[in-house]
Amino acid sequence: MTEATVLLERHGAMAVLRLNRPEKLNALNAAMLSALVGHLRALDADPTLRATVILGGPRAFAAGADIGTLAAASPVELLSSGFSDHWDAVAAIRHPLIAAVSGYALGGGLELALACDILICDETAVFGLPETSIGTIPGAGGTQRLTRSLGKSLAMEITLAGRRLTGAEALATGLASTLCPKAELEGTALALAGRIATQGPLAVGMAKQLLLQGQDMPLAAGIQLERSLACLLAASEDRAEGMRAFAEKRRPVFTGR
Ligand code: COA
Repeated sequence: MTEATVLLERHGAMAVLRLNRPEKLNALNAAMLSALVGHLRALDADPTLRATVILGGPRAFAAGADIGTLAAASPVELLSSGFSDHWDAVAAIRHPLIAAVSGYALGGGLELALACDILICDETAVFGLPETSIGTIPGAGGTQRLTRSLGKSLAMEITLAGRRLTGAEALATGLASTLCPKAELEGTALALAGRIATQGPLAVGMAKQLLLQGQDMPLAAGIQLERSLACLLAASEDRAEGMRAFAEKRRPVFTGR
């Protein structure tokens, strides 16, 4: 029996999804992407789940979309197959996603990490969008999300000139928020997921929505939406519990209601 290309582990309120096609450096094909999205949607529907970590293998988070799949597809198939929609499906997941990058995160691999909410990496990480070197362009959000993550000039260098960033450069430029030794990556990611898991789940979900939607909104509209959701949260049991626990000097027990 062939091993699954995406492996799921549960750690209490957290999940780890491990990309598992090491012989192809986790090049993302349609079957792997639909398995990933299937797992993420199922986790999204589980009220006990608070955060998911996406990990790759020892040499690569993912070395891109599968070039064989792309090379074999006609223009119509590229458009109609929904292949690139998988990255949008990842970006549409409501609970927090942490991409923990070791080794190569190139092309579609970087685009997958960019579709997550938090990107952390180790010192072996290599980030790039090499598509123009094979005569194509990023097709899964890279040209849009990279600029939003680290600014126009560097995004241009990476996309137009094939510049690669190390883990240390990713941290320095804000592409990644944490850099750690390779042996500590999974533990660091799980500890971060664990901290998210102790927060109020309704508040976390709304805050994620606000941070993402705010990137595409006029400031005044974003602030208005923030105010509305803050008022909506005032109706939740979790907010009352959080404030009561603060007054009683104890840890809150959130129920997600
Ligand atoms: N699509 C399909 N297969 C890929 C792949 C991709 N994006 N990236 C790596 N692989 C495969 C290789 O074809 C090779 O398979 P094989 O052993 O059957 O020939 C295997 O993964 C190992 O890769 P290899 O190139 O031998 O490893 P390396 O250490 O010499 O080089 C990279 C590593 C990441 C620099 C190199 O694989 C690479 O440039 N990959 C393509 C990156 C890219 O252009 N991504 C954007 C795609 S749009």
